Amino acid sequence: MASFRIPAEEYAARRARLMAAMGEGSIALVAAATERVRNHDVHYPFRQDSDFRYLTGFPEPDALAVLRPGHAEPYVLFCRPRDPLMEIWHGRRAGPAGAIERFGADAAYPLDELDQRLPELLEGVERVHYRYGADPALDTRVSGWISALRAKLRSGVHVPRELVNLDALLHAHRRVKSPAELEVMRSAGRISAAGHRRAMQVCRPGLNERRLEAEILHEFALAGAGWSYPAIVGGGDNACILHYTENDAELRDGDLVLIDAGCELDSYAGDITRTFPVNGRYSGPQRALYEVVLAAQHAAMAVVRPGMAWPDYHDAAVRVLTEGLISLGLLEGGVDERIADESYRRFYMHRTGHWLGMDVHDPCEYKDGADWTRLEAGMVLTVEPGLYIAPDAEGVDARFRGIGIRIEDDVAVTADGCEVLSAGVPTAIDDIEALMRDA
Ligand code: GLY
Ligand code: MN
Ligand code: MN
Repeated sequence: MASFRIPAEEYAARRARLMAAMGEGSIALVAAATERVRNHDVHYPFRQDSDFRYLTGFPEPDALAVLRPGHAEPYVLFCRPRDPLMEIWHGRRAGPAGAIERFGADAAYPLDELDQRLPELLEGVERVHYRYGADPALDTRVSGWISALRAKLRSGVHVPRELVNLDALLHAHRRVKSPAELEVMRSAGRISAAGHRRAMQVCRPGLNERRLEAEILHEFALAGAGWSYPAIVGGGDNACILHYTENDAELRDGDLVLIDAGCELDSYAGDITRTFPVNGRYSGPQRALYEVVLAAQHAAMAVVRPGMAWPDYHDAAVRVLTEGLISLGLLEGGVDERIADESYRRFYMHRTGHWLGMDVHDPCEYKDGADWTRLEAGMVLTVEPGLYIAPDAEGVDARFRGIGIRIEDDVAVTADGCEVLSAGVPTAIDDIEALMRDA
């Protein structure tokens, strides 16, 4: 499992790249996540902040990375000190010495020296880059450090003049994946696909949705992965609830089940949706709608290549979905009219995808200035068209009511097209039926 790791040199290269983009006279402050109480004295499983992990690889909570371009010690890490008693109860800590030895920090200090050292580190700096407005506790501390400097104005200190939101700069770097990141994401796609295959093979009428979730999580865990978001397992019309996570209904003969689940491997997400028949055979109406969604996915993937603007593949999917809705009698009139008045949105209310990376909805921008982002090799996105016919949809052929279908794959843009990272689980009806039959 260690083989999935991003090498230490890559973390160093990421920091160097960010510092080069910030320029001298700047400082960046990037905070680790903190542990959160779930109930009484139990915490949620800890998940590191993606930006912090991207730059440091440091896995512990309650740390602060300081980056100072042009400085002799550009990377300073504040972290929890070693503590034999705490480590017996709660787990190992690197401590400042470990941060230097194992995580490449140029200098490292215990967290309780933050308030003493940060004003010194900020002295003489022009611009402070950090993610303001995201964590009120950090906002208060940064304000406090700047106030501490301002109080010394008469002794000639220079107080930073600009606060810069780090998001745009850093997330522009996160948007294009390195070869090592793509390798981890290939593995995440492969493991996520294996989970979906297993769910298809186990599925039969009478099982609970929870059982399929358990099968998927089992497959992820065996491969050394966790989950990248809570799985959605929706049988029958539960599939029409886009973020259904109750996952506790019985799966019924004759229904479809929609599963949207992905693993997280070394902090990188998979995000796959498949919709398949509980009993292994698609009915006529299910098949008709499914073929429309699959054709939309193929049409969308066909336009994923360098140079295309972000909305192009969504628009390609919308056209095919709208044509299909008209041909099945769910919409009337001409395709261009129905696209223009957006009446397809009654049955297709979400976008066709999002950036994928360390966050399942990677927080990178979709516009560069006023223009939509143009795709580049190394960007990773999902392609996930769907159709959702509400169980109480009025004026709709009853055979289609209560059917929700989404087909979602993870796709890396390549030099001349795209690579499907999640191709390990089929999408074609014949292939899905064969996999379920031969289980
Ligand atoms: N699993 C969330 C999404 O597909 O966007
Ligand atoms: Mn998605
Ligand atoms: Mn998804």
